[in-house]
Amino acid sequence: MRPLEGKHIVLGVTGGIAAYKSAYLLRLMIKAGAEVQVVMTPAAKQFITPVTMSALSGKPVVSEFFSANTGEWHSHVDLGLWADAMVIAPATASTIGKMAHGIADNMLVTTYLSAKEQVLLAPAMDLDMMAHPSTTENIELLRRRGNIIIDSTEGELASHLTGKGRMAEPEQIMAALEDYFAKSGPLAGKKILITAGPTRERIDPVRFIGNYSTGKMGIALADEAARKGAEVTLVLGPVNTRPTMPGVRVIDVESAREMHDACVAEFGAQDAAVMCAAVADYAPATVADRKIKREKDEIPEIRLVKNPDIAAALGKMKREGQVLAGFALETNDEEANALGKMERKNLDMIVMNSLRDAGAGFGTDTNKVTIYHRDGSVNAFGLKPKTEVASDIIARLTTLINSASR
Ligand code: C5P
Repeated sequence: MRPLEGKHIVLGVTGGIAAYKSAYLLRLMIKAGAEVQVVMTPAAKQFITPVTMSALSGKPVVSEFFSANTGEWHSHVDLGLWADAMVIAPATASTIGKMAHGIADNMLVTTYLSAKEQVLLAPAMDLDMMAHPSTTENIELLRRRGNIIIDSTEGELASHLTGKGRMAEPEQIMAALEDYFAKSGPLAGKKILITAGPTRERIDPVRFIGNYSTGKMGIALADEAARKGAEVTLVLGPVNTRPTMPGVRVIDVESAREMHDACVAEFGAQDAAVMCAAVADYAPATVADRKIKREKDEIPEIRLVKNPDIAAALGKMKREGQVLAGFALETNDEEANALGKMERKNLDMIVMNSLRDAGAGFGTDTNKVTIYHRDGSVNAFGLKPKTEVASDIIARLTTLINSASR
């Protein structure tokens, strides 16, 4: 859920009024768990001091080729190799021009030319400079070469004129960076369907049969898969929580039948599906169209019919190259039950949690799971937060997806 955690970022700051926002952007990056090296152009230092930036990043700012005090050479090549991404915000017309044409007369542009990883830039300048063909063509050139441009927005500018040229807000720049890291993960380009939450089987307009599932485990899986770059479709029963990753597509459903129909419609296009929902096994045969009244002497009987087994239905549909994972929540004979379900539903892996383990199962923030694989291998994990359990499960799933698509 923290795509910037542990990432190395070079933050390039150039000489524009918007440089004051770079301090806030830097703060957001640090808060998100990134390690940031700030590189400033000489002009940037007229707008914001290196002291502010080094205090926030915890590292001396790099600006000159040589340190004035020690004569030590700052290696732009090393910085370029160290970085997982380079963000230039604000990027002025001058720096954009130098980047487009390889004019390496300062530390920032030399670092850019040595950068091996993705570069993102947030242009900021006055509206006439932004509209000049020289700028628009340079930006297009940089975009074509694979740089990510975080477009400037319309609004009031430092010149008091109003128009396009305001640097994107730090939050938008962060979102672009997080999106980039999410999409570059080990599941980039893969599609994963996940079911989560309980189902509700209607009895009458005001009553239903339900269960205690809160959807936490499945939502954690959806967020984790999205963080690793997958395109996630989450078929979600009625719960109070939502995924936090912006890319997760949620299909809200209520009953097992609705969940089944959504999954059957989606599964064909997926690389994998994880069946995490607590699906009701039975539903009332008929739904009363009016609230069932309390009768004096008569106790109503609700006749139940079987719900479709969604995991088993997808198991039947499964093609070569698709991976199907399920859950088994057990109270006894855990291993035998889990292995039986893997077989019957044609799953490739099954995640077993036992209600005999304290802290595992419904509603808790923790879980303790054992993962069984079709090839006979078994991974037993300790009690952990559901977010960490999600990353163990997604790691196993990633391995299966990669070997299935080979
Ligand atoms: O057989 P059991 O309900 O214990 O199997 C659990 C697994 O099957 C879980 O992965 C659950 O999401 C899935 N399941 C399903 N449709 C049902 C019942 C269970 O997808 N009707």
